[in-house]
Amino acid sequence: MASDRVPVGIHDLTFRTTSLQLTHAELARHTGVPLAKYHQGIGQKAMSIPAPDEDVITMAAHAAAAVVGRHGADRIRTLVFATETSVDQAKAGGLYVHSLLGLPPHIRVVELKQACYGATAALQFATALVHRDPDQQVLVLASDIARYDLDSPGEPTQGAAAAALLVTARPALLEIDTPSGVFTHEVMDFWRPNYRSTALVDGRASIDAYLNALTGTFGDHQARGGAPLHRIRTICYHQPFTRMAHKAHHHLLQQAGLPTVPQDIAAALAPTTTYNEVLGNSYTASLYVALAALLDGPTPLDGETVGLFSYGSGSVAEFLTATVRPGYRDHVRTGAHRAAVTDRRPISYAAYRDLHSGTLPTDGGSHATAAATPGPYRLAGVRDHRRIYEATGPVDAGPATTGRCVAAPGEGGGG
Ligand code: CAA
Repeated sequence: MASDRVPVGIHDLTFRTTSLQLTHAELARHTGVPLAKYHQGIGQKAMSIPAPDEDVITMAAHAAAAVVGRHGADRIRTLVFATETSVDQAKAGGLYVHSLLGLPPHIRVVELKQACYGATAALQFATALVHRDPDQQVLVLASDIARYDLDSPGEPTQGAAAAALLVTARPALLEIDTPSGVFTHEVMDFWRPNYRSTALVDGRASIDAYLNALTGTFGDHQARGGAPLHRIRTICYHQPFTRMAHKAHHHLLQQAGLPTVPQDIAAALAPTTTYNEVLGNSYTASLYVALAALLDGPTPLDGETVGLFSYGSGSVAEFLTATVRPGYRDHVRTGAHRAAVTDRRPISYAAYRDLHSGTLPTDGGSHATAAATPGPYRLAGVRDHRRIYEATGPVDAGPATTGRCVAAPGEGGGG
């Protein structure tokens, strides 16, 4: 089919996070854990913490509004909301985003879950839809808040972020290559039963499962004729904590019989970890935050092949490559990304513990949340078991590439 030859991939990519952060220095002062364990051992310096009126919807709406403000919504036919920290068992989170942004009605909106792998499944589904009809665009939103029990080993690997990806034909940033390698293996390494707000995890088993899945996906990728390792310029790994990417790259090189010099591994991965080491784990958004960091970095990647390793506990994983489009730097959103990271307000350990323990009332009454976020969308409260969201200010869509527009909340914006 002619449409199979049209390059399809990521036309725009951006992320947003919460307005608060807890630094690992502040955490270490109270836990008594040596700071070096956080900074070097797991490779984390800070983690995003949601304010009472922030959640996966407000973060995703903020990221999506920037994309829609730049490109308009006229050609978006599908919105896939990938999350493993959903706010409703039935209703897709993307419907709240659809309403907050005033998107047109002729869009199919669904939610997708498979732990941290969900967004990659969404990207592949989106790619297939666009190959079927290259005039259509798909908005993929990946939004998660990683929460573990207080005082548990997972606690320092919490975090939050939402990534928005516009998938189109003839993309400006990256063309998604074929083939990809996939791997599924049922394992209880990390899970969250419906009645829990914090994840359960077998830490060591999860690291083994991740590495096992890397072997499985890369083997499948190679067996199907994927780009050989020497042709892949850099690999973005899913980063539950950034040292995990180092473990993964070491594992891949070792299996390929290549040298595993720690300094070389650190140098190869550094451009992919700059955001995640201060945001923390954002589950299914994490890989795409790593990709944003790579594209925002100083090294030109025009025409290069980059690898993406997506791992979702439980487990499903995929290794794919993408070709960076010439001129991609004219389309990246470095300023907005740096602002998202640096504008967060540091909070005390005591304030963090209060926020961690806070839950939305479930009595069906009317409850307002404290107005805290400076972001353009907020969770105003709950009433009759319904979440009430509101738009509070304009969203800057960022510098123009294919046309610029500052989208007023509730308006899709033109492109
Ligand atoms: N200075 C420097 N390094 C130090 C140190 C110090 N003072 N003290 C300890 N370290 C090092 C350790 O040697 C260790 O390094 P290695 O792994 O290279 O050996 C590292 O710090 C961590 O130390 P521990 O293993 O003792 O840490 P821990 O028991 O507290 O748990 C963890 C670590 C298992 C990752 C835990 O944080 C956890 O359970 N996290 C959540 C699960 C997770 O993220 N799993 C990743 C794979 S699953 C996935 O990817 C999906 C997902 O998003 C969840």
